[in-house]
Amino acid sequence: MITGKFPNLRLRRLRKFNWSRKLVQENNLASSDLIYPLFVIEGKNKKKPIKSMPNVYQYSIDNLGSIVSTVIKNKIPMIALFPSTPSNKKDPFGNEALNENNLVCKAIKFIKKRFKNDIGIMCDVALDPYTSHGHDGVLKKNYVLNDETVNILKKQALLQAQMGCDVIAPSDMMDGRIGKIRKHLDKNKYHDVQLLSYAVKYASNFYGPFRDAVGSKKTLKSDKKNYQMDFANGNEAYREVALDIKEGADMVMVKPGMPYLDVIKSIKENFKIPVLAYQVSGEYSLIKNGIKNNLINKEAILESLMCFKRAGASAIVTYFALEIAKNL
Ligand code: PBG
Repeated sequence: MITGKFPNLRLRRLRKFNWSRKLVQENNLASSDLIYPLFVIEGKNKKKPIKSMPNVYQYSIDNLGSIVSTVIKNKIPMIALFPSTPSNKKDPFGNEALNENNLVCKAIKFIKKRFKNDIGIMCDVALDPYTSHGHDGVLKKNYVLNDETVNILKKQALLQAQMGCDVIAPSDMMDGRIGKIRKHLDKNKYHDVQLLSYAVKYASNFYGPFRDAVGSKKTLKSDKKNYQMDFANGNEAYREVALDIKEGADMVMVKPGMPYLDVIKSIKENFKIPVLAYQVSGEYSLIKNGIKNNLINKEAILESLMCFKRAGASAIVTYFALEIAKNL
């Protein structure tokens, strides 16, 4: 496959000028590759900084209008909504997830009324923003119950679809939930609502700042290893993806991002479906603080996102979306 030999072949020749580097550049990052996560809080006229995530804020619903318009102006196709539920609304069963007046439902309605289909909305399906113990499902003897949880998740998914959510994204890692959710949506005539499965979600140490942002860090007492994947495993990802495609996933997500580029690439090569990457909160905060402290320069942001394109990702969920889109 590799032909030619030094000194006839000098790979530095094409690297000599900016114009020739551009000509042979293999991948590109565009605004249309990005998904911007937004955290929602209760209250009026709030834009509250998240301590562990520099330059990321929690917005009250009345303040979503201007940030969403900025996202649209920058040609970012979709936002991902995450609620920061007040602790007095959390319980062991995550009942607030099924309240049609919860934060996420109100935010979806507000944005869809104002912006129609000028932007896509994606929402997590999982109970962790709503449970008093911070787990993604209901517990029995400290074990997350699978089928009981799925029964709640399918209702959560339907409710979000009814509010106008475009992309339902189960991030809970329960077995069989994609099929159950697809069936429940179809039965209620939401055939056109898309399903993005967080098919490959690792029990990662990079989620810390996010758990601050949705308020589950203090409440979460153990890890999530009995439902999220072991970071030592690669082959298991194929099984997760294969099952989810069979059950009706339109797209799959690999999460976290940068430590799992090998997984993105092999899933893309083997299944030929849209694979999305999630550059998670810990990755964001490490890079952001590295730049703030002059350890690395700002170009590291582009580098950290381009690698997903090189690996074969169709799109990237990233807290850098707006910042980088302004420079693309
Ligand atoms: C939970 C969920 C998590 C993230 C998105 N959805 C965290 C977790 O599983 O504990 C993490 C995102 C991030 O770190 O940016 N369903």
